[in-house]
Amino acid sequence: MRKKLSSMIHTSSTQDVPEVAGVPKHVAIIMDGNGRWATKRFLPRVAGHSQGLDTVRKIVKECGDKGVEYLTLFAFSSENWRRPAEEVGFLMKLFLTALEKEITRLHRNNVRLRLIGDLSRFDPLIQERVAAAEARTAENTGLNLTIAANYGGRWDILQAVSACIKANPNLDPDAINEEFLAPYLSMPYAPEPDLFIRTGGEQRISNFLLWQLAYTELYFTDVLWPDFDTQELQNSFDWYRDRERRFGRTSAQVVSAQETGK
Ligand code: IPE
Ligand code: IPE
Ligand code: MG
Repeated sequence: MRKKLSSMIHTSSTQDVPEVAGVPKHVAIIMDGNGRWATKRFLPRVAGHSQGLDTVRKIVKECGDKGVEYLTLFAFSSENWRRPAEEVGFLMKLFLTALEKEITRLHRNNVRLRLIGDLSRFDPLIQERVAAAEARTAENTGLNLTIAANYGGRWDILQAVSACIKANPNLDPDAINEEFLAPYLSMPYAPEPDLFIRTGGEQRISNFLLWQLAYTELYFTDVLWPDFDTQELQNSFDWYRDRERRFGRTSAQVVSAQETGK
């Protein structure tokens, strides 16, 4: 049982010389700039969040069509509770209605939905809908869509350490290594992201996937999330295709390994 489970778990995708692929297998996005998009139009900030949901719909569809296998979207950080109560309240309502309204379309498109983050802080109704949506799409074989909600990269590492110690109470501290801890992190079903995109002009990680982004290619664009579209997505993929991922090796080693197929 343990063996079967571990063969399904991705510990790290940075061990081997990477294959050259035009389309990243796993894309992780910080969808930033909703508030500024709205403010520029003299609209309340929350109008930007509604418009941002339209972009989510388009980008999910496009990633599926392009053959991306995993798409991970940062929807609400563990720090976003610090925002004004009305904005947080609006985001919760939007989340709740999206869980109800979008799920049929996602299911029809063969998308498998999962949530990561500390969901215990959400309203019980949201928690119920998340569980129902995950269960409904669990057998789908298309795009693996992960929404990070009340997620923080530090929280993820801490909860993994805690779960790991609980599962192995007599653990020898010297026995802990990356492979041992990785299955307890929030996304053991996915390889580490190949491409990270942050819209909205800021060049920071804002406590997103700290562990998993160790060797991810980082793409930053000034385009605000509600304006991000399929052409902008293609631009990021074009940029990604020109990266040489070395994972610590020299360029010559990578080229030679790719030529010999090893
Ligand atoms: C990202 O857009 C959405 C969330 C954090 C929920 P912002 O709301 O951060 O937009 P800006 O950065 O203020 O423009
Ligand atoms: C990051 O955006 C979180 C999400 C997009 C959900 P923020 O707008 O909260 O990030 P900071 O505060 O500018 O770093
Ligand atoms: Mg922001």
